Amino acid sequence: MFHTPVMPRPRKRSRPEEAGIARHEEAKFEDVRIFLVERKMGSSRRSFLTQLARSKGFIVEDSLSEAVTHVVSEDCQASTLWMWLRSRALRNLSMMHVLDISWFTDSMREARPVTVETRHLIQETSPEVTTPTPVATVSQYACQRQTTTENHNKIFTDALEVLAVSCEFNEIDGSCLAFRRAASVLKSLPWAVQCLRATQDLPCLGEHTKAVIKEILQYGRSFEVEKILADERYQTLKLFTSVFGVGPKTAEKWYRRGMRSFSDVLAEPSIHLNRMQQSGFLHYGDISRAVSKAEARALGNIIDEAVRAITPDAILALTGGFRRGKEFGHDVDFIVSTPEVGKEDSLLINIIESLKKQGILLFCEHQASTFDMSKLPSHRFEAMDHFAKCFLIVKLKGSQVEGGFQQMEEDNRDWRAVRVDLVSPPIDRYAFTLLGWTGSRQFERDLRRFARSERRMLLDNHALYDKTKKEFLEAKTERDIFAHLGLEYMEPWQRNA
Ligand code: UTP
Ligand code: MN
Repeated sequence: MFHTPVMPRPRKRSRPEEAGIARHEEAKFEDVRIFLVERKMGSSRRSFLTQLARSKGFIVEDSLSEAVTHVVSEDCQASTLWMWLRSRALRNLSMMHVLDISWFTDSMREARPVTVETRHLIQETSPEVTTPTPVATVSQYACQRQTTTENHNKIFTDALEVLAVSCEFNEIDGSCLAFRRAASVLKSLPWAVQCLRATQDLPCLGEHTKAVIKEILQYGRSFEVEKILADERYQTLKLFTSVFGVGPKTAEKWYRRGMRSFSDVLAEPSIHLNRMQQSGFLHYGDISRAVSKAEARALGNIIDEAVRAITPDAILALTGGFRRGKEFGHDVDFIVSTPEVGKEDSLLINIIESLKKQGILLFCEHQASTFDMSKLPSHRFEAMDHFAKCFLIVKLKGSQVEGGFQQMEEDNRDWRAVRVDLVSPPIDRYAFTLLGWTGSRQFERDLRRFARSERRMLLDNHALYDKTKKEFLEAKTERDIFAHLGLEYMEPWQRNA
């Protein structure tokens, strides 16, 4: 820390456009204009350093503009800083010095701007990265982009999601995927897009997407998206597909037959609902409401107890969105297995029996395994996996949840219904299943696309096949799979593509 006392902030002059220069009466170094990057540094330290520098006659700009000559950052990751700088679309960025705090402290000590040396520079390509691509480049593959649950571009990705769903309803698969890819790229950015120029070097952003971004930047909304949201067919299909067991095909069929609401569907005698749909309507209020982390943990305890009563050495893992660190989910996903191959067969049946006995199983669809290693590798893209699985609706009591329910249930019930999915692969397939079920969907899509296009390999929830060597690559952990693919390992919480 500096021992120089904090100077009182000099009074502002009347011309605000010169505020940065004018704040100090005697700017001694006219051709050096410093900008302090606030992130990591924090605002109080930043204002302290600003005042210190100004007291020594330095010009410190309040905002980053093309007038700045020296950008100073503290403890900032080089790639993140550079990505942010690039997003500002400054024409003279290449002329600016992007510097570590050491340049600033040296300058303060000497009370003059010291000559910029290599050791002061924050370089765009950090030396420890061995890949030939510069760090600032955003990959076209989600499996090469870290994406946390923090989305800085929600305003754009929400709009793109509406467009993607609309395409899905109209069976325009190519455009649907294009919008999803674009949204996924935007989700991975550690900064918010503030001008169209910031998107110019990003992959997967087509003309249509850019037009939508431009509209939102300009007007705060997209008129195309608003038109879709107001469209009766879109609204109805969205409503119908929100029911457990109702896909776009069924929703479309009901829409064509003139139905617009749940009561229309339920009042129509010629419509036969399958078991899943019946339960979907019956528990609609509960299961259309998000599941919290605490509720997911409570279900983990229930399943764990159920499985361990008969198979003490069973392996149980939470997967899906909650494993990626999401706060809320639409369901809770688990993988169960046994240390010995073949013993996993009875696991799901035992769990189901136990839940039934406890009187907490509201719905169950069990699918026996159709897994056959000799039928691999599968060339079918995005096909469902063949492991034994079950789709459940479970009754969860408030008393089982840490902190109870956030919200009182309707009609004063002390329980709510929750959707739970279980999958049970043989242990030698466990890593592939865990990777596949952890998601996100877009992350998985791009892992498979990367494997196929960049490595001539086929990846799915069962296995990884090397087409060049004509052999299966074994894996005990997710890390093994990333290593086989020549990809840097990504933690689950970085897979929210
Ligand atoms: P989910 O649909 O549960 O998504 O599938 P999620 O990421 O957990 O999000 P929310 O919060 O519940 O909405 C989880 C993962 O499991 C895979 C999906 O592809 C997804 O990546 N999955 C699901 C399969 O591989 N096979 C299945 O049969 C079902
Ligand atoms: Mn899920």
